[in-house]
Amino acid sequence: MIKVAVMGYGTIGSGVAEILDQNRDVIAGQAGQDVELKYVLDLRDFPDSPVADKIVHDFKVIEQDGEVEIVVETMGGLNPAYPFVKACLEAGKHVITSNKALVAAYGTELLQIARDKNVNFFFEASVGGGIPIIRPLYRCLMGERIEEITGILNGTTNFILTKMDKEGASFEGALKEAQNLGYAERNPEADVEGHDTCRKIAILTAMATGREVNFEDIYTEGITKITDVDFKYAEKMGTSVKLFGTSRISGGRVSAFVAPVMIGKDHPLYAVSDVYNGIMVRGNMLGTSMFYGSGAGKLPTASAVIADIIEAAQNMKRNVRLGWTSERQAVEPMDRVSF
Ligand code: HSE
Repeated sequence: MIKVAVMGYGTIGSGVAEILDQNRDVIAGQAGQDVELKYVLDLRDFPDSPVADKIVHDFKVIEQDGEVEIVVETMGGLNPAYPFVKACLEAGKHVITSNKALVAAYGTELLQIARDKNVNFFFEASVGGGIPIIRPLYRCLMGERIEEITGILNGTTNFILTKMDKEGASFEGALKEAQNLGYAERNPEADVEGHDTCRKIAILTAMATGREVNFEDIYTEGITKITDVDFKYAEKMGTSVKLFGTSRISGGRVSAFVAPVMIGKDHPLYAVSDVYNGIMVRGNMLGTSMFYGSGAGKLPTASAVIADIIEAAQNMKRNVRLGWTSERQAVEPMDRVSF
């Protein structure tokens, strides 16, 4: 039996607890043993929840419990997520995170610690919610030179743009709805100003190139300046407004940007609406592949976390402690793209 701790009982953390319970047999079958939730770390108590007896408030309980082999971080943000995750890896625990801010800022360092400690550090849920994209990039497409990644990578902004476009909703009203549905970040500025998309395209670019990507180098513009006038023009031109994160890798160099764009009906991402994300990946031999699905929300995102837990468990069972490496084609550091 493998014991798991979840740090952060918010939208995603509660989804992980729910799936560990509801899909217990599926997970045990894939992992080759039972996977049991031992602790849930949160500042709050949840007396009426199914995890009431598992709540702990002190991180040290998890860090110092040798029985806990896999730790899931679903707190979001950098503090205390970063020191906690680092401490767990250094204590020889496998860590799974859904936290794109953490991966974008400290992914390289945390992966190095994981390598040194021979444990897994997985983050499939950090990009695209429930859409498999990290693993396909580093595994299924490992023989490709990735030339371009273009995606609608933020469910909240896509939801807002869809509501404004199709229903004439106000920006504030649509944002409120996205928050109520559990799509938005705690601080929704990260969504609407494009920072969340920026971190996600930085992570995908790093996975595609094997190089550290400084997300602060990526030109980033959100959707806060989009008004109903833009939608009227877009309609006249038979186009739609989407927030794109794009990365182009060419001649050993990378350029990337995040910005709202108008795309026509013939664009493969035109039909990606509501909370859905769509990601197009172009490889030099593959051509273009598209990944599509629920880009945010409790159970889809938690589902990606669960797959990472299972892979860590499988690696432990096979005694393959570190399941993968991010080293790929080498490219030069990024160019900043400007308009
Ligand atoms: N706030 C994020 C989004 C959550 O809306 O896409 C999923 O990463």
